[in-house]
Amino acid sequence: MSHERFLVVDFGAQYAQLIARRVRELGCFAEIVMPDRLPAAIEGAKGVVFSGSPWSAYEDGAPHVDPAVFEAGVPILGICYGMQVTTHLLGGTVGAAREREYGPARIEILGDDPLFAGLGEHMDVWMSHGDRVDAAPAGFTPIARTDHAPFAAIADATRKVYGVQFHPEVTHTRGGQTLLENFLYKVCGAAGDWKMTSFIEESCAKIRAQVKPGEHVICGLSGGVDSTVAAILLHKAIGDQLTCIFVDNGLLRKGEAEEVLHAFRDRYKIPLVFAQAGDRFLDALEGVADPETKRKIIGKVFIDVFTDEAKKVENVKYLAQGTLYPDVIESHSAYGGASVTIKTHHNVGGLPEKLGFELIEPFRDCFKDEVRRIGRELGVPEVFVARQPFPGPGLAVRLLGPIDRERLAVLREADAVVREEIEKAGAHEGLWQYFAVLLPVKSVGVMGDARTYEDVVAVRAVESQDAMTADWADLPREVLSAISYRLINQVRGVNRVVYDISTKPPSTIEWE
Ligand code: XMP
Repeated sequence: MSHERFLVVDFGAQYAQLIARRVRELGCFAEIVMPDRLPAAIEGAKGVVFSGSPWSAYEDGAPHVDPAVFEAGVPILGICYGMQVTTHLLGGTVGAAREREYGPARIEILGDDPLFAGLGEHMDVWMSHGDRVDAAPAGFTPIARTDHAPFAAIADATRKVYGVQFHPEVTHTRGGQTLLENFLYKVCGAAGDWKMTSFIEESCAKIRAQVKPGEHVICGLSGGVDSTVAAILLHKAIGDQLTCIFVDNGLLRKGEAEEVLHAFRDRYKIPLVFAQAGDRFLDALEGVADPETKRKIIGKVFIDVFTDEAKKVENVKYLAQGTLYPDVIESHSAYGGASVTIKTHHNVGGLPEKLGFELIEPFRDCFKDEVRRIGRELGVPEVFVARQPFPGPGLAVRLLGPIDRERLAVLREADAVVREEIEKAGAHEGLWQYFAVLLPVKSVGVMGDARTYEDVVAVRAVESQDAMTADWADLPREVLSAISYRLINQVRGVNRVVYDISTKPPSTIEWE
């Protein structure tokens, strides 16, 4: 199972793993390393990409690499901060840009460097930086420019060290994937020997090596894609040494618990414990409005319920979870980098120490669509693989304001209507998520001759590749109109429907 190795150096950016995943998409194996580990890891690597970072390269405490890595004979591509730190370490000048540049920009490509092969004379790119390169280090020449940045991309063709000020890894950069492909194949000479099946084989081998005969693994099943595919992967690796635990937290969508039970017990015949714990969760959440408090309570009760159920399974040594990379990075930086906490995802942290189990998280470095591809490769039916993501804290983070059982029932109905109408029209193809949010405001309406003062439902439907960025979906008017009609006429207490037209960033997909 040997394959070429590319390294992505994590300088603390939200996007380090996104770069690694783009490299995997292009058929190459990518591994994340911390800057101080690079000198040891670089030997034998085929190429290195430096990620962005919230730091300024010239600030005290900013993450640096040993400059010897530039002499290792391994090609390097620095992205944003990655380019600035390269410049700083090799004697060029980095300074604060007059204005922070955030959003789309057009670069002019200079010369015919292989990095820009096939990309024409201009490229529409995504910028997000406060610093810029004012003078390139000796040996480097500019290979792209913008009006604001004379060094939008630089190259030292002799050492094969490159820097780009923009982010080729985000989908907003048109041709970004071609640029990365050029780096891997034209600059580094990659063979492209990495496939999804390699991932499955390697994961199974790793799990088998870890879990000894007679030891048991429990897997928290949520019914979503990640935990389902994790369970099937584990089942493939260790068969009946796996028991799944499904906790009904009272915050599930309409019909969800039944679907999961049916599929796992009847179809897969995987041992499944079903914990009906809705009241425990809802009692603890009653009246709680603060988003982080909701998440923390749900996390805590989940641990309690899960612990109780886990105790009933014998010889358990491991806990398997379908944790994805975005869950990790948005809770805290996965690799000790400097990214900030945006939301505490309840399936990350806390559990292992409390339970005394070792963790198995086969998708910790993966994105949702990679897990879908793994699921398809494993033969998991489309109804699970194609299922839209649903957050661990469930409807609690879509019921804005204090949690109460009656409002939860309203939201559950509203959500079912939104899903039904979108799916009926076939408009769900290509959508990442589509759901209802119940707002904590009332508005005035008129029904018949009477004034109403009732709830507002927000409809959220987004397109995304990986949940790191998202765009609101341009749903057909007929679909929006059918949703609005049914919500107002069929869901008790709703007299107004609004459509959420915010992108991520700067908004997030969920409202809490
Ligand atoms: P945001 O709202 O941060 O969501 O843009 C990104 C993706 O993550 C999902 N999400 C969660 N998933 N536990 C999860 O398993 C959580 O606590 C959680 N919070 C958000 C969200 O639905 C979206 O797909």
